[in-house]
Amino acid sequence: MARTIVITGASDGIGAASARQLHEAGERVVIVGRNPDKTRRIADELGVERHIADFADLAQVRALADALLESCPRIDVLANNAGGIFAERTATVDGFEQTFQVNHLAGFLLTNLLRDRLIESGASVIQTSSEASRTMARFDIDDLQAQRRYSAGTAYGNGKLENILFTRELHRRYGDAGINAVVFHPGVIGSGFGGTARGPVRWFYSSRLTAPLLDSNEVGGSRLTWLALGKPGVDWEPGAYYVRNRVARTNRRADDPLLAKRLWDESAEMVGLG
Ligand SMILES: NC(=O)c1ccc[n+]([C@@H]2O[C@H](COP(=O)([O-])OP(=O)(O)OC[C@H]3O[C@@H](n4cnc5c(N)ncnc54)[C@H](OP(=O)(O)O)[C@@H]3O)[C@@H](O)[C@H]2O)c1
Repeated sequence: MARTIVITGASDGIGAASARQLHEAGERVVIVGRNPDKTRRIADELGVERHIADFADLAQVRALADALLESCPRIDVLANNAGGIFAERTATVDGFEQTFQVNHLAGFLLTNLLRDRLIESGASVIQTSSEASRTMARFDIDDLQAQRRYSAGTAYGNGKLENILFTRELHRRYGDAGINAVVFHPGVIGSGFGGTARGPVRWFYSSRLTAPLLDSNEVGGSRLTWLALGKPGVDWEPGAYYVRNRVARTNRRADDPLLAKRLWDESAEMVGLG
């Protein structure tokens, strides 16, 4: 029987590529995007259900969770893949720094709102992180909103480290209940990523000089697809961080259980789940 796979950030790039691959593999894919036209295009191409939510607005994340609970009696895989890097420090309508909210907090909230359905379904919950969690993060749990000093790269690296910390704590809390959390780096992928950055990051993702260094959306998507199709505990290890379909070294701060717990508690309080 086809499994139900919900992918956020599925209107473009890595998420859209994986959605195509999983649909091709015979799974029931549910597309979540922000841009209504792009989201409709890919959903219509595959003939599948779609939902729109801007993660910079947590009310839209709550409405998304309600809609998914209504339309999906099972959720076998939740892929928290939406994310990005943002040139300017911008506060969302909820008052949080945009990179933090879009990359971490929105997925945290969505997962928690779907939690009972995910447990009943014995779901895999997959976070799209990045090697930026090692190379660009300068994580300060006391400055989650990047109020002291904003750099797009640091905020992004921190968001991607938060994806790993969230995965670890999700595994610790709900692994025994049946949720299989995992997190991965998709590769350096020539997607739309970089379009919202400035300076070297934007240049790197758009220059003809660096194009040979970038892998395709299909390659990035295939790493998400591999986890989504894989059997937790057999094909991959719950709680682990994967690069090129192998367990990989993380930023050593990702291995700090107290930090993971504190991030969870603070995030829960921010979204009113405390
Ligand atoms: N490309 C890379 O080299 C690379 C490397 C490591 C990790 N990643 C991660 O891979 C994931 C997918 O990125 P990508 O490379 O495929 O980039 P992309 O082509 O720019 O796709 C980003 C996706 O995220 C969605 N998104 C962005 N902001 C959003 C918001 N405020 N609310 C809801 N959805 C939002 C976009 O939706 P719309 O298009 O509908 O606006 C789009 O579907 C991200 O988490 C990224 O950080 C990428």
